[in-house]
Amino acid sequence: MVDDREFSLSKCKLVRYQSFVDPRGNLGVVEEGAHLPFSPKRFYFIRDVPPEVERGWHAHKRLHQFIFALAGSVELGLDDGRETAEIQLRDDFEGFYMCPMIWRVLRNFSPGAVVGVLASDVYDESDYIRSYEAFREFAGT
Ligand code: TYD
Repeated sequence: MVDDREFSLSKCKLVRYQSFVDPRGNLGVVEEGAHLPFSPKRFYFIRDVPPEVERGWHAHKRLHQFIFALAGSVELGLDDGRETAEIQLRDDFEGFYMCPMIWRVLRNFSPGAVVGVLASDVYDESDYIRSYEAFREFAGT
């Protein structure tokens, strides 16, 4: 069946961003247009996550995000209501563009992992869908 929804896992993608690596250290660049199909309005990060803790367990109605491991690694469990995927992110200058309406779980944070998120809008709790049943209903799947 053709999936013609505006947002689905097929619209998400891994994106390699720019890196400048030299003996002085590594510099990474994530830029609108070149790497992001949206204008970021917010940056937040997650760190010091204890082993076994899983975060996320929600979807966003309208928010676009770019998730990347600034240090260490993390696993993303993804679900658009029809398909699921597992993606491992590590601090190798590759991040994940996540369109709206993707249910996500972040798990298996490595010790010392720091996960950065660029978001297309400011924080708005009303944009969250925090129940999986409500997500499926909203997604029409
Ligand atoms: P949440 O997005 O639920 O975190 P996670 O999905 O990683 O488990 O956010 C955790 C708490 O932080 C929640 O009370 C909302 C608050 N928060 C803000 O106030 N502003 C923000 O930009 C973010 C991302 C979270």
